[in-house]
Amino acid sequence: MKQVSLDLETYFDVAFPKHWDMPPALLESMRYSLDAGGKRLRPLLVVAACESLGGNREAAIRVAAAVEMLHTYSLVHDDLPAMDDDDLRRGRPTNHKVYGEAMAILAGDALLTHAFYVVASLAKDGLIAAEDAIAIVSDLSEYSGPRGMVGGQVADMEGEQGTTDRARLEYIHLHKTSDLIMFSLIAGGRTAGASTHQLEALRTFGHGIGLAFQIQDDILDLVGDESKLGKKTQSDVKMEKVTYPFLIGLDASREEVRRLTEEAKSAVDQAQLQSTEILFAIADYLVERDR
Ligand code: IPE
Ligand code: IPE
Ligand code: MG
Ligand code: MG
Ligand code: MG
Repeated sequence: MKQVSLDLETYFDVAFPKHWDMPPALLESMRYSLDAGGKRLRPLLVVAACESLGGNREAAIRVAAAVEMLHTYSLVHDDLPAMDDDDLRRGRPTNHKVYGEAMAILAGDALLTHAFYVVASLAKDGLIAAEDAIAIVSDLSEYSGPRGMVGGQVADMEGEQGTTDRARLEYIHLHKTSDLIMFSLIAGGRTAGASTHQLEALRTFGHGIGLAFQIQDDILDLVGDESKLGKKTQSDVKMEKVTYPFLIGLDASREEVRRLTEEAKSAVDQAQLQSTEILFAIADYLVERDR
């Protein structure tokens, strides 16, 4: 699946039309965070969902680029002094440390906006039907906006040790993280003409692995290795965040990651996809990941 990252990065080179007159410093700041890499999990999920249904990779790569732009914007903003105030991301100094806070805010805004341009371009260039592009745009807004990722980030910001309970923490994690993971799977399915039943199974799979993914992120914040993660550990401790390990302990959190992953896998097992191998391999890798 290394090829997905290569195809994605090749697409980033043409994603911003050459004839557009843009401030070079803005493009540089956007590309700084986008090109820094990261696991490219969401792109991988888009492509895996598409290919589990025998779909075409070219369309999936563009959707993958859109979700990676949107995800990268969320990281640039998440690291700002007003939010988590972090200085290391994807193994590099955070965007605002290099370009300043104002440029980091604007580079994030531009990455967010451009994600929608990229999805619309799929229909303009005839890679998918206009109605599928509309459905993907609508999902992307729903899963990343006020009822999705941003809503989850606000709930995360409002969370308080001592008052936030398990149900509220699940809400936070499902929205700040699972929603974009669910979007990736559903959108990958849409590029391959998935049925309603298949889309629902992909959604349920994303719900489970997304929640497991954020619990593992919480675990790694406590016990992970900074040089592998490419970001500072103990950030949640510093910010007094409510996390799964904080609320239920490390062992129970690890068990929850395993349980949710198995549950997620059984949901796709029942969906009659052409192949589930890669989706399962990704789910299993996420349980063991250390970066
Ligand atoms: C980090 O996401 C933010 C969360 C939602 C936990 P990733 O762990 O996928 O970050 P990258 O893309 O690999 O840098
Ligand atoms: C980030 O959650 C969720 C986003 C939507 C950006 P975290 O704050 O836990 O992510 P990291 O640990 O900084 O990557
Ligand atoms: Mg945060
Ligand atoms: Mg953070
Ligand atoms: Mg974290």
